[in-house]
Amino acid sequence: MRTQVGIIGAGPAGLMLSHLLHLNGISSIIIENRSRDYIEQRIRAGLIEQWAADMLTETGVGERMAREGMFHDGNYLCFNGETHHLNFRKLVGKGITIYGQQEVVKDLVERRLADGGQIIFEVDDTKVHDIATDKPFITFRHDGKEQRIDCDFIAGCDGFHGICRPSFPPDVLTFYDREYPFGWLGILSESPPPDEELIYAYHDRGFALYTMRSPTLARLYLQVEPDEDLDKWPDDRIWEELHIRLGGTRTLQEGPILQKGVTAMRSFVCEPMQTGRLFLAGDAAHIVPPTGAKGMNLALADVRMLSRALDAYYKRNNSDLLAGYSKTCLERVWKAQRFSWWMTQIFHVFPDEVPFDRRRQLAELDYIAHSVAAQTSLAEQYTGLPIA
Ligand code: FAD
Ligand code: DHB
Repeated sequence: MRTQVGIIGAGPAGLMLSHLLHLNGISSIIIENRSRDYIEQRIRAGLIEQWAADMLTETGVGERMAREGMFHDGNYLCFNGETHHLNFRKLVGKGITIYGQQEVVKDLVERRLADGGQIIFEVDDTKVHDIATDKPFITFRHDGKEQRIDCDFIAGCDGFHGICRPSFPPDVLTFYDREYPFGWLGILSESPPPDEELIYAYHDRGFALYTMRSPTLARLYLQVEPDEDLDKWPDDRIWEELHIRLGGTRTLQEGPILQKGVTAMRSFVCEPMQTGRLFLAGDAAHIVPPTGAKGMNLALADVRMLSRALDAYYKRNNSDLLAGYSKTCLERVWKAQRFSWWMTQIFHVFPDEVPFDRRRQLAELDYIAHSVAAQTSLAEQYTGLPIA
């Protein structure tokens, strides 16, 4: 097989990249090691920044999001038994959209296939070759046969556990890493969320987040141990804890729990995000703790940049954007890292904390709740920093 851009991974990054390239007349093939069904059912992020929702709409993949997504102008901070509303629309003229990552994935897969795009699912043994030359290629196994894709460029959109980052030459990469001493237990429940907008709750017993996927489907998270054993969390215990951490500020309706899982929390950046003809995008290059809701948004931002750089290369024979890809992405990535770390450290209970830390966290939350300057800064970052 031969294509212009070989894409490894059909997550939000790989699929969106393939879609954007297609709109610019650039060919690509995506290979993915899971099945279509698996990637379309995988429940992960749910919050889309304003510019990213606009991009989905403007590039023709936002139709179902317009019908089924939930558009929010603000959210709530909850602490000391009270909630405080932040109105992003008033503060910075932007909002956020709640629409599940797997729905974005479904819409992009459908659109790529309708446009004649090629996605090869259930591949095995993916390898990249000759990335330091202008004739790189990808090999993999599919249906028991060895396959090869010759291309001009390879996009490593294969997530944190993918093979692209480890394929960089030795000593090229620097890693910046931070693990957190807690995780999130997330559930999807067939019950209405406690409010129309999201509630971020600070509590002595740990953080809780009350979000949603529809008016009848709640997505709820609790701070737990990083390696928490789900068997220790029967449904009754989950509901009890969710009630307590809401601090009496809302009534929380219970419902059948459709899905349950624990996510570890880490901050991770690898620099640079490119070597030769191999470019990393999304989780392959960086991970954020989910408190700032930035993971999927960063993946979309990277590929927007990469598609523009590839467009400049093919249309104008200009490699400047490609050469600067990593630097351009990392400037914004680090700001999102900082915001995600900041949101994480104000809302979570740390095992090694001293009483001073609780008072400091509460003072910080109180400052945000009552300062327009602080709210504006939060709103600007939460709804999405400007993108080139
Ligand atoms: P991915 O979505 O990981 O896509 C990578 C794709 O590459 C996958 O489909 C994988 O199967 C495929 N792949 C991997 N290796 C190979 C290979 N060798 N060959 C071919 N294909 C390969 N973010 C938030 O903001 N909020 C959340 O609540 C949140 N919850 C999360 C929960 C979990 C359990 C996880 C894992 C992540 C969560 N995230 C969350 C992060 C967010 O989902 C990611 O940032 C986002 O998926 C990144 O998109 P991506 O396309 O870069 O990577
Ligand atoms: C969701 C997840 C997040 O991590 C977040 O900060 C906001 C919303 C969600 O799953 O809806």
